[in-house]
Amino acid sequence: MRLTTIALLFLAGVVTAFAITQQSATAAANDTVKERSEIVLEIPASEKNRKNPVKPTPENIERGLELFSSQCAMCHGPRGAGNGELAQQLKMPVLNFTDPEREKRTDGELFYIITTGHGRMPADGERLSKEWRWCMVHAIRSMAGGESEPRDR
Ligand code: HEC
Repeated sequence: MRLTTIALLFLAGVVTAFAITQQSATAAANDTVKERSEIVLEIPASEKNRKNPVKPTPENIERGLELFSSQCAMCHGPRGAGNGELAQQLKMPVLNFTDPEREKRTDGELFYIITTGHGRMPADGERLSKEWRWCMVHAIRSMAGGESEPRDR
């Protein structure tokens, strides 16, 4: 009987300690987010200058948009406005793809970001084929202005 009580007290202690650790871990994660969204991505020039091998046909843009709604919209929002439900739940600031400023990114940069991730955004790496990732680049561009290449080129 006494042993059970001791065991229970010990368990309660462990649970409390765990809860406290979790709380401070969340606080630390939140701090990191703030810092990270200010980080300017260093993208190698060779990646920046990569040309999109996929043609921006309406079909390919549509393929990208379809994949976007299932893989990205939860954070980026159905139309890329940065208002996805998951991002809102996680209080995660997400950039607005409908903002013309985003067009400053080259296709290569967008491809690189989708492949390697960005701050709290998970990397998609090889999970999606290269072709699909390039279609998604067209899809993101279509959200800003309908053009496939940055305007200043
Ligand atoms: C878990 C939420 C989440 C998901 C899912 C997600 N993203 Fe992101 N994405 C982010 C956040 C957050 C940022 C901004 C990172 C920062 O600045 O700290 C971002 C940034 C980006 C950027 C960089 C924009 C710029 O110009 O700097 C691109 C491009 C992008 N995401 C594309 C995608 C695509 C395509 C998908 C789907 C394959 C996707 N993301 C899925 C959260 C997400």
